[in-house]
Amino acid sequence: MDALRIQGGTRLSGTLAVDGSKNAALPAMAAAIMADGPVTLHDVPTLSDIANMTKLLRELGCEVTGHGRTCTIQTTDTAATHARYEIVRTMRASICVLGPLLASRGEARVSMPGGCAIGDRPVDLHLRGLRALGAQIELDGGDIIARADRLKGATIFLGGPFGSSVLGTANVMSAAALAEGCTVIESAACEPEIAGLADLLNAMGAKIQGAGTPRIVIEGVEQLHGADYTVIPDRIVAGTLAMAIAMTNGDATLTNFPHDNLLAVLDRLDIAGVHVERENTEEVSGRCTVRVTSDRRLRPVLYTTQPYPGFPTDLQAQLMALLCLADGNSIVTERIYPDRFLHVSELTRMGATLFRSGSTVVVQGGAQLVGAPVMAGDLRGSAALVLAGLVAKGETVVQRVYHLDRGYVRLENQLNALGAGIERFELGVSDPIEVG
Ligand code: EPU
Repeated sequence: MDALRIQGGTRLSGTLAVDGSKNAALPAMAAAIMADGPVTLHDVPTLSDIANMTKLLRELGCEVTGHGRTCTIQTTDTAATHARYEIVRTMRASICVLGPLLASRGEARVSMPGGCAIGDRPVDLHLRGLRALGAQIELDGGDIIARADRLKGATIFLGGPFGSSVLGTANVMSAAALAEGCTVIESAACEPEIAGLADLLNAMGAKIQGAGTPRIVIEGVEQLHGADYTVIPDRIVAGTLAMAIAMTNGDATLTNFPHDNLLAVLDRLDIAGVHVERENTEEVSGRCTVRVTSDRRLRPVLYTTQPYPGFPTDLQAQLMALLCLADGNSIVTERIYPDRFLHVSELTRMGATLFRSGSTVVVQGGAQLVGAPVMAGDLRGSAALVLAGLVAKGETVVQRVYHLDRGYVRLENQLNALGAGIERFELGVSDPIEVG
């Protein structure tokens, strides 16, 4: 199992490009199932989740070819409709084949995703939306079985107790693209990944308006064709890199930066004393170049995770690591996944002073973090530990890097390109960890 050995204390500088978004690429790949022709996606990040989706699509009768960050998906056999537990359990996002399979093949059998390290993750909103489009849905042997001859447009409310659902909206919007008549999704997720998916679907011949707002209107079409589409930059990777630079008191440039999709984060960072300034004032297709610098003394902030355009839960852990260094106490409230705090105890092992009560954590600033062997149980928590390792005194070893590899393309190489000292090595299950 791979681990990262991080030597703390270097200031980051240089230039780095932000990768394409995992969470935009996954539903885009799933949507390609519905096309009659080849769908070519550019800027697809080379991550283990993308490899798992590729495997799943192949099992579902799609040819997936490509080189580097471009991949082409072409449906060649429409008989297979089963997304097996063995794949779904490795990646919850497999659920986003449900809508595309049902709409284009009349049937889908998708293993019910279980809970995960960051908390309960139900799929009731996905099912509610597809039922409203006329699907018959039952559960059998741990699988969701959905059937429909042809889906019919409907007005659907997709709000839930924690806001809307991103992949639920992706599933219902994708399925409605091939339904008969008009569908209106009210309380749709507004995340940029949904707007990106609608752009792809429209390029495939769909008629979707309003994606990126809480009301999406979809005029169903008979058929979808092939298309060529570039995945949007990853706002979570962009935010993580900006925080890494700021924590090390660095000065670096990030290109392909989705500035306008990160406004809530940039607002909090600005108050904390982190400056993310556009180098070019014009944002081209949602991308620009920014320079990241920070004040020597960071200030505390309050933040609450919310659905977009609020502060994203996927950056909660990383900002918490940064605020350990601030001059004063910060308060973090998690409103999307109230238990998404696996990183708290590991940051504490590195010298952070954190007090958790329910879904709130008080971060006592001014910590001198110290290197330690640590292990987070989820993707974004692992990123927070890497960030903490960059500023910790001495050496930090982050174990179970497979979590990190789900969402960051070799994060150590990216940070090393900015001057960090991180080494990947293989750690045997029973190897003692030597931290020098
Ligand atoms: N929810 C329901 N019912 C549902 C679906 C969701 O109550 O049917 C609740 C969830 O329990 C949660 C909230 O609604 O409290 C939001 O969940 P959502 O469905 O929006 O999450 P998701 O679509 O499964 C995506 C990202 C996550 C990200 C969330 C929230 C992908 C592949 N995953 O998940 O990303 O945290 O949206 O923004 O797009 C990550 O990349 O680290 C990650 C976990």
